Amino acid sequence: MKKYAALLLAGMMALSLAACGSSTTSSSSAPAEEKKEEAAVETGEQTEATQTEAPEPGAEQAETAGTEAAAETAAPAEVTTVSPGELHMATNAAFPPYEMTDDAGGYEGIDVEIATLIAEKLGLTLVVDDMEFGSVITSVQSGKEDIAMAGLTVNEERKQNVDFTDSYATGVQVVIVPEDSDIAVVDDLSNDKMIGCQDGTTGYFYCSDTPENGGYGEDHVISYPNGAMAIEALKAGKVDAVVIDNEPAKQFVAVNEGLKILETEYVIENYAIGVNKENPALRDAINNILVELINDGTVQQILDKYINTNE
Ligand code: ARG
Repeated sequence: MKKYAALLLAGMMALSLAACGSSTTSSSSAPAEEKKEEAAVETGEQTEATQTEAPEPGAEQAETAGTEAAAETAAPAEVTTVSPGELHMATNAAFPPYEMTDDAGGYEGIDVEIATLIAEKLGLTLVVDDMEFGSVITSVQSGKEDIAMAGLTVNEERKQNVDFTDSYATGVQVVIVPEDSDIAVVDDLSNDKMIGCQDGTTGYFYCSDTPENGGYGEDHVISYPNGAMAIEALKAGKVDAVVIDNEPAKQFVAVNEGLKILETEYVIENYAIGVNKENPALRDAINNILVELINDGTVQQILDKYINTNE
């Protein structure tokens, strides 16, 4: 599995260095065409590229954000959840703008808003359960939680443990460095640098993989319980760079002086919702709702509300 991730990374890096000079990292932007290995199979956004791939039911519609794909009527179906009347969302609410705590001690963010609408359409009340990122998938897998929604990247390894819905957003792994850093491009990370990541994330897996597989080796990565702590370590000089998803990266850089995001894109990923493999009815019902919310522009509105696409 690590090998898989690293192969992907190696491909991504080569391509991103060669082809992605720009820093267009909006969550709603279409991923580059090289993203076929894992992401596109499940959730690629370009309709032309994915419609022939026979993804899971409903997938091709959900892919077509902003286009008028066949609007299937959401099948209300018999959906069972871990607690009757409620939809429990496992998340790690330290990942702005996808999930974070608000001033009143509640939860807000892109994922929270989308999940609230999904719950509503299912006739359920959303309950957000905040936990360590590493528990988000296992809690769904073990049947404690209904959905894993946490800016959660679809990958092969996770697909062994949960089913993923169609994708509702894309993310890009980026590199944050101090403004005066001698790290100018991703490749500079291989010069014996220390990299900070959030524990259990794809960024961590890519970076900690062996150099042969495109990573930097475990000895060069320190993992932190959340992104904010990795940023603190960067500011304190304990690590030379932090690899994390682009939107949280932008937010962290905005509130911490002296940091910047490298222009080079690192890895492009798709975010989707993880559902217990034994609950396909819930997954299908969510996919039908996602189709609606994507086609009527709701998902885009929510993304736009939290993401400044002009940056
Ligand atoms: N997209 C990355 C992953 O799936 C990071 C997600 C971290 N999410 C969070 N809520 N802390 O591994």
